[in-house]
Amino acid sequence: MSPIDKHGVGRTAYRAMLLGFAGDPAESDDAARFEEDGLLIVEAGHVVAKGSYAALADQLTPDTQLRDLTGKLIVPGFIDTHVHYPQTDMIASPASGLLPWLEHYTFPTERRFSDAASARETADFFLEELLACGTTTALVYCTVHKESVDAFFAASEARQLRMIAGKVLMDRNCPEFLRDTAQSGYDDSAELIARWHGKGRQLYALTPRFAPTSTPEQLQACGALAQAHPDVFVQTHVAENVDEIKWVAALYPGYRSYLDVYDRHGLLRRRAIYGHCIHFDDRDRARMAESGAVASHCPTSNLFLGSGLFDIAKAGAHGMAVTLGTDVGGGTAFSMLRTMNEAHKVARLSGHHLSATRMFWLATAGAAQALDLDGTIGTLAPQTEADFIVLDPQATPLLERRMQRAESLEERLFAFALLGDDRAVFETYVAGRCVHRRDDDARRRRALAAH
Ligand code: GUN
Ligand code: ZN
Repeated sequence: MSPIDKHGVGRTAYRAMLLGFAGDPAESDDAARFEEDGLLIVEAGHVVAKGSYAALADQLTPDTQLRDLTGKLIVPGFIDTHVHYPQTDMIASPASGLLPWLEHYTFPTERRFSDAASARETADFFLEELLACGTTTALVYCTVHKESVDAFFAASEARQLRMIAGKVLMDRNCPEFLRDTAQSGYDDSAELIARWHGKGRQLYALTPRFAPTSTPEQLQACGALAQAHPDVFVQTHVAENVDEIKWVAALYPGYRSYLDVYDRHGLLRRRAIYGHCIHFDDRDRARMAESGAVASHCPTSNLFLGSGLFDIAKAGAHGMAVTLGTDVGGGTAFSMLRTMNEAHKVARLSGHHLSATRMFWLATAGAAQALDLDGTIGTLAPQTEADFIVLDPQATPLLERRMQRAESLEERLFAFALLGDDRAVFETYVAGRCVHRRDDDARRRRALAAH
């Protein structure tokens, strides 16, 4: 995929407002590092320097191309820690809750992904949509078919994206056409790890869909792979819906909780990302924290499917690592700004104030840290990969009007989070190359050409 223009080819400096973090804003009032007049210098896909324009102006060597983005805000690319690319075409499908939704929409839709060409076409659209929303890294569920994984990683590699994805494992309680076996799921996952994990910027995630669709033998086999490959990711769903939890209790008698099922199959560890984590008790929360596993809070999905309210304050009190996910197609938006909007409201309903500063951290540096990728992405620290986005405070008349009255950084970020969506993303850069520009109609043309 060619970059949109010559920006990002050679040494380039971007002059704009810059947002970074020195830690979790929940732990310190001055964790945010903001430069009103900042400079980000990028070369060969990596950040060279980041700071105030005044401090770095002498690094503007004659061979440095200067891009003036004064008035706009550069932040690290967003990290979506839970999303299903095969569900792109069934976003906004109404259902009475998770289990009927899976049966009526999800499983029939995922059937198509045995076909490599249609998987690739969807992966291309999905990735363009992420980039338009400013998401540069995501933890992505493919389907049970190996072809769906190869198609996804090929599409990601063509764009030089840092993506984490894996083949769904399901050996029971699903239609025959989506079923693997404990052995074939193990073999296919091992083969895909060998093919994709660490290839360029691609990373693999072992992906048991959720406990109801895996036999104990399959979870055991997955746990063995997770132990054999500690730097490979694990992703699954847990404690999302009350009917699902009752089903797990019936299928897995003798376990203390739903989370305990995964724990006793060796699936709770660092780089294991658990979608939802809504109906947890304090022992579950403590066990998540102790094991280093990470929660992906998916508020648009939880509200849409009526699953429940994630308690971010209790999660924090127990030291659980929390990140944000869209969970499309259960989620109703690809935009991490719209995800922040709903995360704020879900926190409000449990009596907690979730600041915009913290939500920006959760979607960038906090996620990178939780995924053990903070030396690589999410911070724009020198030597890290130059995945970043340019947010436009004047993206819409209403946003511009509200921004004019913003009296603090928090108020500005809050306006982006509560009023923003893909329109607020002016440009998206991946490995230092501009891959999306809002005002460019190339994306629309590419999408039309694909039909
Ligand atoms: N639980 C098992 N599969 C899924 C899925 O595809 N989406 C959501 N939201 N929950 C699930
Ligand atoms: Zn999901």
